[in-house]
Amino acid sequence: MAPIADDMKAVDAVIRARLNSDVVMIRTIGDYIVGAGGKRMRPALLMVVAKALGYQGDNHHLLAAVVEFIHTATLLHDDVVDESDMRRGRHTANAVFGNAASVLVGDYLYSRSFEMMVETNTMAVMSILSEATTVIAEGEVLQLMNVHDPDISLDRYLQVVRFKTAKLFEASAQVGAVIAHATSEQRAAAAAYGRHIGTAFQLIDDVLDYSGDVHTLGKNVGDDLREGKATLPLIRVMETGSPAQKQLIQEAIKAGEADFAAVAQAIHDTGALDYTRQAAVAEAGLARRAIAAYPPSAYRETLLKFCAFAVERDH
Ligand code: IPE
Ligand code: IPE
Ligand code: MG
Ligand code: MG
Repeated sequence: MAPIADDMKAVDAVIRARLNSDVVMIRTIGDYIVGAGGKRMRPALLMVVAKALGYQGDNHHLLAAVVEFIHTATLLHDDVVDESDMRRGRHTANAVFGNAASVLVGDYLYSRSFEMMVETNTMAVMSILSEATTVIAEGEVLQLMNVHDPDISLDRYLQVVRFKTAKLFEASAQVGAVIAHATSEQRAAAAAYGRHIGTAFQLIDDVLDYSGDVHTLGKNVGDDLREGKATLPLIRVMETGSPAQKQLIQEAIKAGEADFAAVAQAIHDTGALDYTRQAAVAEAGLARRAIAAYPPSAYRETLLKFCAFAVERDH
């Protein structure tokens, strides 16, 4: 983040200023979730892509705040849907303030983000971001439809990943390219970069749900299994495990509860976490390749470092 340290500070200031509603509950929940931090990957991607392509204007802070608001809105909603009680090292907003307040403040953040993007008066930007929010919503609904379904295929899983997570990375990178007046090739490269790094990012999220440390991660582990959510580690066991292992996982997905130790053992014995990590490494490699033709700069180096971070991260 070093080359954009000042920009990240400026984005933080925009975020805080734009949370300043007269409605106290909005400020309370907004400050609560924003104050807990977060990696700010999507705003960083947007700004580094823009700078790697020579951006000189001053809309990047506002738009970076927009993508973080969209992300934060999805987290508020996602934690209600997933019934999660830990996020960013704190109790989730739904655990502290209730589901209704979380959903409504999530809606507020979505609306606020649209108001802010309109200020840029750039149709291409609005088109990318409004499509992205639609696709994210589709991804979350598709995932809901997949829950407790032991017959989920790799394709259906990957579609959810691309929709719910990779799409916002893709849109963030693409907006960076658009405001930098990039060529259509550079813009397509930004989109591919975001899509692949976003996919890698979610694959690792799904690994960390089995192998992460609660304190480092700031979220509970084991939530996916408890929710009956079949992610790649489980899909892999069902594909390559023994009939008994396959049955164990299928029952666990159906019931949303299981002997966690037995599931962990099956995941271990089939090498399913390593397999998932390798899939993430492959996606990160595609992300690196996508921006290989960008002019060499410290910003391009940062984009490459993000690829490494997406697969090596433990938080
Ligand atoms: C969490 O995203 C949701 C996923 C897409 C896995 P992040 O891991 O980027 O969350 P924060 O913003 O850093 O807390
Ligand atoms: C997160 O999916 C994707 C979105 C928030 C749209 P997850 O449900 O896997 O993310 P965590 O684990 O709650 O952060
Ligand atoms: Mg969740
Ligand atoms: Mg997760």
